[in-house]
Amino acid sequence: MPSQNNLSSGHLISWEGWTDSEIESLLDFSVYVKKNRVYFSGNMQGRTLAMLFQKTSTRTRVSFEAGMTEMGGHAIYLDWMTSNFQLSDIEFEAEYLSRNVSIIMARLKKHEDLLSLQKGSRVPVINGCCNLYHPCQSLADMLTIRIDRNTIKGSTLCYVGVHNNVVNSLIEITSALGVHLVLVTPMINENAKIERVIKKALDKKTLTWETDLRKAISGCEYVYTDTWIDMEFFNDPGYQAEKAKRIELMMPYQINLELLKNSKVKIMHDMPIHPGYEISREMVSDHRSIIFQQAENRLDAQKAIILRLIGNS
Ligand code: CP
Repeated sequence: MPSQNNLSSGHLISWEGWTDSEIESLLDFSVYVKKNRVYFSGNMQGRTLAMLFQKTSTRTRVSFEAGMTEMGGHAIYLDWMTSNFQLSDIEFEAEYLSRNVSIIMARLKKHEDLLSLQKGSRVPVINGCCNLYHPCQSLADMLTIRIDRNTIKGSTLCYVGVHNNVVNSLIEITSALGVHLVLVTPMINENAKIERVIKKALDKKTLTWETDLRKAISGCEYVYTDTWIDMEFFNDPGYQAEKAKRIELMMPYQINLELLKNSKVKIMHDMPIHPGYEISREMVSDHRSIIFQQAENRLDAQKAIILRLIGNS
């Protein structure tokens, strides 16, 4: 792919291939984009983003599509099942697609399929969440902390829940930005733990694990939780036994009023929320919750990513 920007990687599949200073610079740029939304109103004029979805979405679809509209461009929604991606070779379909659009965002079930799409594409590819990573979410998460406390380096974040794709991207981005991440993850999704990602964070001393949730939270400024069941399995009849098992194991790790009664920790969640499971309903709108600011920041983070990858910022 001819590089249209000066980044080490022309894509955002995971944070691998991005240097720490590129990630830091992208975060600074996201802050700038948020504070100066009007500056970028014409930057995507005449450009199209293709958004390919194999899984459900609210925030990823809305933020990318609204982001392109705000920047004067256009976004096409492509459903995997009603496009010929489901019938054909992903690389060939991707090459065709990339001859029509300036940039592609894809939410695919399998990371390997995303790599095939990247291989076939002549334009930048953004991972809109696969089984292993959710980099766009992690940038919005760091943007939320950065705006909340003015600086990012040295902040302390506790993630409680299942070790999943969101966790991998959080480990990557926190190690790049000097954020201390404490994981309280009694359960790990199948094949979700990635040694490369963990090794870098351990080398940089940004990652620790804790089994005592109260202890973990007492040392952190932010607590972050996520669904215990991945979106594609949530209503799958074949997954109900595993779902029941997870709920039983994870219920002691719910974010609720009793857990946070003497705490000033701020509450984060990447949404969609399952009230009564990973978080009790009242904590979503608790005065310590920054969940909706975090979700809103997806828009600014997405715009910054698009602008950087297209090299038009
Ligand atoms: N957090 C997130 O990616 O939301 P959606 O699944 O709704 O896109």
